[in-house]
Amino acid sequence: MTTALTLPTAVATRELGARLGRALQSMPGVPQVVALNGDLGAGKTTFVSGVLAGFGLAGPARSPTYTLIEPYEAGTRTLYHLDLYRLSGPRDLEALGLRDLHVSDSTLLIEWAERGAGALPPVDLTLQFGYAGAGLAGADDAPRQLTITGHGAVGERLAALLSK
Ligand SMILES: Nc1ncnc2c1ncn2[C@@H]1O[C@H](COP(=O)(O)OP(=O)(O)O)[C@@H](O)[C@H]1O
Ligand SMILES: [Mg+2]
Repeated sequence: MTTALTLPTAVATRELGARLGRALQSMPGVPQVVALNGDLGAGKTTFVSGVLAGFGLAGPARSPTYTLIEPYEAGTRTLYHLDLYRLSGPRDLEALGLRDLHVSDSTLLIEWAERGAGALPPVDLTLQFGYAGAGLAGADDAPRQLTITGHGAVGERLAALLSK
């Protein structure tokens, strides 16, 4: 199922991210994969910073733009924040060894996941970020629209929780 939400401000985006972070943290023993798609500036990293806050991690997300991946320890869970914007090909992805990271108690948050399509572990939740109206695209302070799709039982549960 797919639902859409309006995120009027960056703070709203961060708060929704924090809600997802708390939900992810409350599901021990399962691997979790969240795909974040949408243009540059659409709000993906802002949302990830909120997820980290929901896990009790302070500070903004470090940028994985050049390293492609940044790990975080959050209690019993390990978070991996990926940004595939600069992915140059499938070899880059292989080098990251994502299959080995897709284990119980790991959470993958993948910006620009569409660039890794076909070579990523199964995605539980797809978050598509965009602008809330035609003509707003690219305006930094414009409201954003978030489209949420859950895949499978874990994803559907997370999607339902974000949509209410
Ligand atoms: N409703 C909103 N949601 C998310 N970001 C917003 C919103 N309104 C304004 N912004 C601003 O837009 C920018 C989004 O940047 P960022 O999260 O890095 O995007 P991305 O990771 O998708 O490239 C930030 O400067 C943020 O403060
Ligand atoms: Mg980003």
